Amino acid sequence: MCGIFGCLLSNGNASPVIHSSLKKLEYRGYDSVGIATIFDGKIFLKKGQGKIDEVHKNLNLDDLPGNIGIGHTRWATHGAPLQINSHPHFDCTGKIAVVHNGIIENFSELKLELQNLGHIFVSKTDTEVIPHLIEAIMKDKPDFSFENAVQEAIKRLEGSFALAAISSHEPSKLVCARNESPLILGISDNGIYCASDIPAFLPLTNKTVPINNGELVIITAKGYQIKKIRDGSLIERAPEIIEWTSEMAVKQGYPHFMIKEIYEQPEVLRNTLRLQDHYLDLFSTFLDRSTEIFLVACGTSYHACLAASYMFSKLAFLPTYPVYASEFIEQYGKSVNIDSTILAVSQSGETADTIAAVVSAQQRAATILSLTNTIGSTLTRISRVYIGTQAGPEIGVAATKTFTSQISVLAQLALRLAKRRGKISQDEIDTLEGQLAKLPDIVDTTVKTQDAKAKQIAHKYANSKVLFFLGRGISTATAFEGRLKLMEIAYIPSVAFPAGESKHGPISLIENGLPVIFVCQKDDTHKTVISNIMEMKARGAKIIAIIEKDDNEIKEIADDYLEVPQGILGIFSPIPYAIPLQLLAYHMAIELNHDPDMPRNLAKSVTVK
Ligand code: G6P
Repeated sequence: MCGIFGCLLSNGNASPVIHSSLKKLEYRGYDSVGIATIFDGKIFLKKGQGKIDEVHKNLNLDDLPGNIGIGHTRWATHGAPLQINSHPHFDCTGKIAVVHNGIIENFSELKLELQNLGHIFVSKTDTEVIPHLIEAIMKDKPDFSFENAVQEAIKRLEGSFALAAISSHEPSKLVCARNESPLILGISDNGIYCASDIPAFLPLTNKTVPINNGELVIITAKGYQIKKIRDGSLIERAPEIIEWTSEMAVKQGYPHFMIKEIYEQPEVLRNTLRLQDHYLDLFSTFLDRSTEIFLVACGTSYHACLAASYMFSKLAFLPTYPVYASEFIEQYGKSVNIDSTILAVSQSGETADTIAAVVSAQQRAATILSLTNTIGSTLTRISRVYIGTQAGPEIGVAATKTFTSQISVLAQLALRLAKRRGKISQDEIDTLEGQLAKLPDIVDTTVKTQDAKAKQIAHKYANSKVLFFLGRGISTATAFEGRLKLMEIAYIPSVAFPAGESKHGPISLIENGLPVIFVCQKDDTHKTVISNIMEMKARGAKIIAIIEKDDNEIKEIADDYLEVPQGILGIFSPIPYAIPLQLLAYHMAIELNHDPDMPRNLAKSVTVK
């Protein structure tokens, strides 16, 4: 996710201001930190690997000279969390410095093009192409101002970015720009700031100017000027006053991290669609040649694996075994061999059971692939290849955005495998890819339209003694995840089963008024799900259905329902259908006066077996 900050002050040195502002952005990532300032026409730089306090202790981030500068706190996406990959990044001459948050999708092509022009790259980041591009443009067009060169450079970028750039060519100017990643200005009597988020400058000012996608800002001693990146046209925008406390600002005005993270899912899903192709190809090569594949994880990540096992089977005709990491060694430890592949999924990359399963399989020469949200974690170090899920740091203990991002990556992998194995037609691939691309908007609509309704339903059922979660097919995974969310933060005992299994035992618990949540995606299971609903209704259960909009058949028989937009393919349904369940769990916790961010007895990262 990363945090960027830049400032031009009227009085005083910029570096202590940048340092303290980066501290307030540390929740966005803290793999490494860096600051560059300009003084006397020269750029000064300090950067290092580790948390801000550690780097400050070693380097003293407060003593760079100059009233203008940029800073960055990193959450690694491209390139390990090493000093060399930490921001700011520079051009060949060392006269242009850039900090960036986001993902440049076409960085490989740009890097090659620039390398062919003689540019030397020192890091493994996507960001480094930006200062080199600016340098190349300034060389080509010597009459260009710094902001013109930045504007031309970013026109060539595909992907997401919020960036800030300074140059000793024009030492009193700070240029920043935005496409998708957040960027906001702060205006005070002593200067102008740009940052990824309001908390960065909230102690200094509450006067802010939001920057929109496709806009570039030039900050000078005279003030700020906003332009459209596309055509350079000027945009007038006056500052607004933000009435937030510091605590509210860190949560961007949301009352809890969990709900903030639920609302971040559209943006996160857009980022997961920007994976580098060659990692998906590499993964699918390993998966395709193994004789057995185990999907190994704990908690929510296990539910993502369960959903993925349906995707691999249905799309790529490839059987896989989802296994709880804590059971893996006992269940399969001895049978794993050189032809086995372990695909470990872990948000933190540190879960003790997952690491133990991976280490044991590695000792038996199995191939280890992993999916994690934490580049640089133990899991990334012990895997043959890993993919980062691009969800950004998740603070709420109950996983939300990391669940949907894991499934999005696993879905892309299943599709890639299907292509490679020639199992589905090009037409089907086009349809599936089209739908994947639409999921961020579908999730956006779901969050925005179902939040208030989920709150009402939570109010109605919050005093239930027990709840059921049922689904068929891939929605079994969604139902399991919905149950886990509710149980872990609202402390309501809950039961989840594949709907077909419910009549082999759990149905004996059903009595008048007991709420049963059915996840009813529109696929081949739909008709049978309706029969299962009728079985429960006949015994007095109250039915809460998660349905596709205008699924009138189920609307008529359900007591309450939450909806996702129409036309979602069953195979991708866990992503949008999980959203109403996350919202329901959140609002139930609030109804019952529990803190959803810090549920009792649980930890975000479980590093003991
Ligand atoms: C803990 C967390 C869960 C998480 C599980 C697995 O129990 O509270 O939210 O799903 O660990 O964590 P991992 O980091 O391996 O995905």
